[in-house]
Amino acid sequence: MRKIIIAGNWKMNKALNEVEAFCTELLDYAAGHNCEEVRMILAPAFPFLSSCCRLLEAQPVSVSAQDVSLYSEGAYTGEVSAVMLASLGLEYCIIGHSERRQFHAETNAMICGKQKILRANGILPILCIGESLEQRDAGITGDILLEQLEGCFEDIDLETGKEVTVAYEPVWAIGTGRTATPTQAEEAHLLIRNWFAHKYGPAVADNLHILYGGSVKPDNLAELLAQPDIDGGLIGGASLQVESFIRMTRIAAQIKEGK
Ligand code: PGA
Repeated sequence: MRKIIIAGNWKMNKALNEVEAFCTELLDYAAGHNCEEVRMILAPAFPFLSSCCRLLEAQPVSVSAQDVSLYSEGAYTGEVSAVMLASLGLEYCIIGHSERRQFHAETNAMICGKQKILRANGILPILCIGESLEQRDAGITGDILLEQLEGCFEDIDLETGKEVTVAYEPVWAIGTGRTATPTQAEEAHLLIRNWFAHKYGPAVADNLHILYGGSVKPDNLAELLAQPDIDGGLIGGASLQVESFIRMTRIAAQIKEGK
């Protein structure tokens, strides 16, 4: 049975004192609750990964980077390598976020390369895919998702399905307040899981976590998580306040009991 993942993508938000205050409050909460069934992940900006890894070491909260360099080392000013991230002991790294695709011209081939370099360094990728509004309106959502999967998983082996987490994030729902309906989201998640079943076999597809992202908040999380193929959320805006993040982990724990 897959655990539910509640992952906060903080993007370019929060300074050091805010990051530390959030972690301290979340740990207070975690100390008094059973957090076994929900995996909590926080993705702060690069400068704060180190303090987060230290603060959250041996705690039921994992740390994720928001991106990684495609290169292993050398003259790439401003880049952060997978080796550097691994040396912090962090577990996850988001790749292929639509904001990276849009503002940094990332292609599926680059995201595939990032997946490889992360896995070679023992970091679990959280790989994002999703269609734009024009693509959805043109009725080609499925084609786009399959094209992204083909490109991002070219020459990639999966043995268990636990080597990677996929996040379905329709671009039109990110930061817009417009969430995909549970039915729209489930339809995309099922298509994604079926693609994995076809390429890697049913056991891999069954283990794979597929997160939904795009204006997730405490008010809409339960109905999304109630869908059979939605295994958690990659959450931007609503993950910035610790109260809201905790509320979402509570909702996830309740849903998990009933799933
Ligand atoms: P949002 O962002 O929850 O603010 O829509 C989600 C994401 O971009 O991962």
